[in-house]
Amino acid sequence: MFDLLLKGGICLTPSGRAELDVGISGGRITALGALDSGQAKAVFDAKGLHVLPGVIDPQCHFREPGLTHKEDLGSGSASAAMGGVTTFFEMPNTHPNTDSAEQLAWKVARAKETSWTDFGFFIGATNENADTLGSLETLEGCAGIKMFCGSSTGTLLVDKPENQRRVMKSGHRRIACHSEDEARLQERKGLFAGRGVDAHPEWRDEECAVKSTRGLMTLARETNRRLHVLHVTTAGEVPLLAANKDLITFEVCPQHLTLAAPECYERLGSLAQMNPPIRDARHQAALWEAIRLGLVDVLGSDHAPHTLEEKQKPWPASPSGMPGVQTLVPLMLDHVKAGRLTLERFVDLTSAGPARVFGMRRKGRLVPGYDADFTLVDLQARRTITNEWSRSKCGWTPFDGMQVTGWPMATLVRGNIVMRDGALQGTACGQPVQFDV
Ligand code: DOR
Repeated sequence: MFDLLLKGGICLTPSGRAELDVGISGGRITALGALDSGQAKAVFDAKGLHVLPGVIDPQCHFREPGLTHKEDLGSGSASAAMGGVTTFFEMPNTHPNTDSAEQLAWKVARAKETSWTDFGFFIGATNENADTLGSLETLEGCAGIKMFCGSSTGTLLVDKPENQRRVMKSGHRRIACHSEDEARLQERKGLFAGRGVDAHPEWRDEECAVKSTRGLMTLARETNRRLHVLHVTTAGEVPLLAANKDLITFEVCPQHLTLAAPECYERLGSLAQMNPPIRDARHQAALWEAIRLGLVDVLGSDHAPHTLEEKQKPWPASPSGMPGVQTLVPLMLDHVKAGRLTLERFVDLTSAGPARVFGMRRKGRLVPGYDADFTLVDLQARRTITNEWSRSKCGWTPFDGMQVTGWPMATLVRGNIVMRDGALQGTACGQPVQFDV
């Protein structure tokens, strides 16, 4: 007897696409094939839908503790579930920073109470904890270490190569890096006085990212440490990353694939401001080419909400970051519809990719024995992304008014239906992801 049967959907399995029924028991996939509805306590009619392995968003800022006027683990994970995301990894630049066992345990306990989806948390590297990270990275619910090499929102920063080297020598899991060169950021900060937000990508320019990534590659090789470069934005970094694939994985964000300068700054002002910045069409084309070639390992939203009031401050006082966990799936399905990537490549980037990069157990594949996490999508549905649809506490999305083809119709987390037809369902049931550590 199955707890739930997904009937008649087109499943994206490692062997390809096929119309298969999915039998779910005890939160796991237990059978795939032509299955009898009589053998199930409940049946979900998935006819006309594509059943994807649950989408994993490995870069979210959910702001709890300390910044809960922008977001919290409940609202952020609700936004994830609404957008078809079944697991998120959350970033350590909260108040206080997640830089100790105590702070990690606090987040894990809080998320067990309030999260709609499964989760993992990054521990922030600091100059102070650099030598002890090896014992922190294996704790329950830890997705790994995050190192801010250039300053962004918050106070986390490890900018000196000697300290970055200490971080890389401590522990063994893949380190997620925000790669912008702090010295260059500080040197050039004063050059744009009187300018508006359109200067953001000039200040935090291509060389800023390339210089930092080049330095990281050198240190990774010296210490033989695996790194993951978050939100890659420049044409110049792609060949560097490609030449170091034995040690380096990397992420691209949907907003860098969808928005481009100068148009985004003219239309959206500081709502388009984030770090590293949205750049011009040349960089966007290089990122698409990296996706096409199979170089990009994962997509991440870098969901980084700030209130509209905060965003209205004049640049550079306006904070960097935009929400994105809820729009990742619709935006990328629209790109699938436009022929920019295949649905299979999308699955590789959002399920199999993150599971491989971060060593997640039982996640990322539609296979018996794996967790029953699914993103059910209608590839033909034409919908408009709106601020009203957004469940993020910040209440806005840079994609308000954009019409897309392809939409998440249901989100299942270990067999629990948490979103169906645009409404949350059931209760918050999230659990920490288990990792190979
Ligand atoms: O734009 C950004 N916002 N980039 C980051 O690295 C941090 C994030 C935030 O937390 O606001």
